[in-house]
Amino acid sequence: MGNRIIQGAKQPLKGELTIPGDKSVSHRSVMLAALGDTPVHITNFLPSADCLSTVGVMRALGAKVDIINDTELMVQGNGLHGLKEPETILNAGNSGTTLRLMMGMLAPQSFVSVFTGDASLHKRPMGRVIKPLGEMGANIVGRAENTKLPITIVPTEEPLKGITYVMPVASAQVKSAILLAGLFAEGETTVIEPYPSRNHTELMLEGFGVQVNRDENRISLTAPEKLIAPAELIVPGDISSAAFWLVAASIIPDSELLLKNVGINETRTGVIDVLRAMGADLSIINERKSGGEPVADILVKASQLHGTSFGADIIPRLVDEIPAIAVAAMFADGDTVITGAGELRVKETDRIDAIYAQFSQLGGSIEAKEDGLIIHGGSGLNMAKCFSYDDHRMAMSLAIAGLAGKGVEIEQADCVDISYPTFYAELDRLTK
Ligand code: S3P
Repeated sequence: MGNRIIQGAKQPLKGELTIPGDKSVSHRSVMLAALGDTPVHITNFLPSADCLSTVGVMRALGAKVDIINDTELMVQGNGLHGLKEPETILNAGNSGTTLRLMMGMLAPQSFVSVFTGDASLHKRPMGRVIKPLGEMGANIVGRAENTKLPITIVPTEEPLKGITYVMPVASAQVKSAILLAGLFAEGETTVIEPYPSRNHTELMLEGFGVQVNRDENRISLTAPEKLIAPAELIVPGDISSAAFWLVAASIIPDSELLLKNVGINETRTGVIDVLRAMGADLSIINERKSGGEPVADILVKASQLHGTSFGADIIPRLVDEIPAIAVAAMFADGDTVITGAGELRVKETDRIDAIYAQFSQLGGSIEAKEDGLIIHGGSGLNMAKCFSYDDHRMAMSLAIAGLAGKGVEIEQADCVDISYPTFYAELDRLTK
């Protein structure tokens, strides 16, 4: 588990950067392609540890996944009802998306599956998925009051039944698990979200010929006879990865970066809205559609940021970007107040505590609240040794904080492989 030292930037960030494939869309592309019965060629796939966990799980369930090169896959499924009983324990690694979505897909199957994962995933709550799937009739057994890994999915005598589920938290993973179970359930399956979360599952299901009724926060479907797989699936660039550069180029004076191929699905663009509210200079150019998702290039120019406030309604649209936004807030004039973000406590690590502890260590002035943060901007940063908690987004946020400040040594820095394996190479290229 290597440490990495990032020096404070000696010059502005200039040039272009192509943003790698979206993690959420990459997972879903392999999962749905594995339920089709014709080959799917997936391009711009994100070859990160999390997405490779999904590849491993789908292979164990009988799908043929050929890795043509780093970003290109060929997936051949066995049809909607063709998943095979796995001969091994399924390992979701660090990936909550793999585990939660696959629980939805496996709950209706006629075989037993057992899931494990890494130390972080063993701590994360799965009751939020087990509860609605249980209401559909699923039989899922876990550790510690049945909500944690290891988890066993036991087949049921009767097929699952569609339900209408009012979600207590806005979570795309919970929504997706229910909708995937709904592909095999009797009757209609409906989820109602408190606030809109990322809709990649719904969009991709439509791309596979499933009729999904989407009416504001209410999404429903009934089990199709089969999925009609597209021959080609193009994954858009990941705005969650772009976020680190949006922030770094905004706060390192005189920077000007062109981020190419960024997914701008409006359920994901909260970071753009918040950075603009802080005074960031972002131009969205060359807007186009790619694989059913909107993408664009984003030109970011450095500017003096100021504090802002945001809360529960926008959180699902930027939930993974809060560590990066917190870095922007440390370099802004005035205070940034984040509320309604209790979900951060159940991510790869408790990100409220992690941001508070590590960014304070760097010299930031931060208050941690039960469901948010107050960041007092402009305190000026120093060089420090900081811990990533083995959380990829913490490591990358620490890296850009060090880059814009006076440097940082990141302990357990390699975890960026979870979502952005080329992050440090890009950072080195831009700063050499
Ligand atoms: C994801 C949904 C989000 C996000 C995660 C990926 C997805 O989690 O934090 O990184 O692919 O559906 P929640 O939906 O649980 O907030």
